[in-house]
Amino acid sequence: GKTISFIELNGRLLPKFDIDCLENVPSLPLRDDDVLICAYPKCGTHWLFEISRMLIENTTNVPVQPKDDFMIEFIPQKTLASLPSPRILNSHYRFQYLPKDLKKKKTKILYIRRNPKDAAVSFYNHSKKLSKYYEYDGEFKDYLKLFVDGKVDYGSWFEYVKEWEQIISTSDLPILELTYEGMKEDPVGGIRKISEFLGTTPTEELIRDINDRCSFANMSQRKGHLTGKVEGQSIMYRKGEVGDWKNWFTVALDEWFDQIYAHKMSDSKLQFKYSL
Ligand code: A3P
Repeated sequence: GKTISFIELNGRLLPKFDIDCLENVPSLPLRDDDVLICAYPKCGTHWLFEISRMLIENTTNVPVQPKDDFMIEFIPQKTLASLPSPRILNSHYRFQYLPKDLKKKKTKILYIRRNPKDAAVSFYNHSKKLSKYYEYDGEFKDYLKLFVDGKVDYGSWFEYVKEWEQIISTSDLPILELTYEGMKEDPVGGIRKISEFLGTTPTEELIRDINDRCSFANMSQRKGHLTGKVEGQSIMYRKGEVGDWKNWFTVALDEWFDQIYAHKMSDSKLQFKYSL
C-alpha cells in the first residue's frame, strides 16, 4: 500500500508491537543504575547501545545481543525485570510517554538526534525492507510526505526533537545530548563524552578498541544477521553515513522540505548538519 501500517493508541501512532508492552511503558519500574537510550527511529540507537555496553562492561568482548531485547515498548515488563543491573534500555517513545520513574530515579539518559533528511531516508528504507510488516511499497517522495505529516510509526520527527529540546533546556535530569553527525565526525570524542557521562574509566586502548569494534563496517558484520536481512542486505545496518539524503532528494523535493522545516522549526534553536 501507500501508507504505513501502524497501531493507533490514544491518538499516537505506534509500531505493531504487543499492545500491553506498548501501554505499560509509563509504569515500568526503573533502577538508579539503568541507562536509557532515547532516539527517534533510525537516528543511532544501535550504535549507542553497543558503545555503552562496552564502556560499562569495560571490554569489547560483549555477547552478540540485539538491542531490541532491551527495548522498553517491545519487551514484557517481567522480562525487563529479570535483567541484571546495570541495564542498558532503549526507547523511541516521546519523552512524555517514558517511564514515570525517570523523575524519581537517577537513570541516565543518552539522547541522540540525527538530521531529518538522513533520518527520513533511513526510515524509508527500513519501512520498504520490512514491507510485509508495514504493508508499504511507496516511493521515497511519497514516504517523505508521510514523514513530514508524522504519519509514520512513532509519529512526527519534528515534535519528537522539539519536545527533547524543551526538556533538555528546562529539566535537571541527567541527559547527555549527542548527534549522529557529531558521532560520525569524531567518534572517539563521542565515546569519551559517553564514558564521562556514564562514569566509566576505560583505558585509551579500550576507547580505541571500542571505536574500532563499533564502526559501521564491524558492527554490521558482527550484528547484521540479528535483525534479519532482506535480499542479502541487513535491515538495520544499511549505509551508516551522513549525507546519503543527497542520493534521494531531488532539488524540488529538497526545496519543498526546507520550507516545511523552516515553518515547523521556527520555534526551535536546534541545528543539524547535513554533510560532514
Ligand atoms: P542508515 O539507514 O542511514 O544506514 P537506529 O540504530 O536508531 O535504528 O538507526 C539506524 C541507522 O544507524 C542506520 O542508518 C544504520 O545503518 C546506522 N548505524 C547502525 N550502526 C551504526 C554504526 N556503528 N555507525 C554508524 N551508523 C550506524
